[in-house]
Amino acid sequence: SRRVTVHDIAAAKERGEKWPMLTAYDAMTASVFDEAGIPVMLVGDSMGNCHLGYETTVPVTLDEMTMLAAAVVRGTKRALIVGDLPFGSYQEGPVQALRSATRLVKDAGVGAVKLEGGERSHTQIGLLVQAGIPVMGHIGLTPQSVNTLGYRVQGRGEEAAQQLLRDAKAVQDAGAFAVVLELVPVELAAEVTRILHIPTIGIGAGPETDAQVLVYTDMVGLTGGKVPRFTKQYANLRQTLGDAAREFADEVIGGTFPQEEHTFH
Ligand code: KIV
Ligand code: NA
Repeated sequence: SRRVTVHDIAAAKERGEKWPMLTAYDAMTASVFDEAGIPVMLVGDSMGNCHLGYETTVPVTLDEMTMLAAAVVRGTKRALIVGDLPFGSYQEGPVQALRSATRLVKDAGVGAVKLEGGERSHTQIGLLVQAGIPVMGHIGLTPQSVNTLGYRVQGRGEEAAQQLLRDAKAVQDAGAFAVVLELVPVELAAEVTRILHIPTIGIGAGPETDAQVLVYTDMVGLTGGKVPRFTKQYANLRQTLGDAAREFADEVIGGTFPQEEHTFH
């Protein structure tokens, strides 16, 4: 069966249907989400903190993104796979953005790319769309700018709200097929969702966006330490994996694994 396309995504907004998006960073996890019917998967640069052990998304390279996005594509049959353009792979301008996005499309096989910024990324989005690459925007909190923004709710206050509305329109006018709204007040996210004809995908943006995205390691309770208030843990895989590892270790030390059924003669 064919993969979900950006046309399916547009049709869902017309029908008023909400949809879920999850991040994925490897083939095996992606295959589980694909079989669960998750229609869109994001190979987020959140792989920096959630998969590669960096402190932020900032160090993630295009090579790392290409390798893991290729794995997610290989692990899936149905989902639309979106690859994040890492920090430094598009800020120089549209030509650099096109070169980076082309690499993700050709070498990893993604169906779309995502990049951060509204008005400031307008020309990059425009050239990619012209070249035939579907683009997902990302406004509000943009984690690649953590060193200037921090991890704070964005769009609070009249001036910031007006800027967010301009950013949302800029992303849509440039030709993006969808836009992520991260960490913005629910009222503002609802307004953006009403005004735009492309779908909004919320994370920490309340229930009124067209879609919701979660970082999968947060969603399954793998992330260690403190997780943001806007995530929800639907499982506790950290506990489950730790228990399995402790039980295996105990059985090896105690000499009860392996048993006859695991042994060849
Ligand atoms: O990298 C990521 O996981 C993201 C989502 C939070 C939207 O950009
Ligand atoms: Na990201």
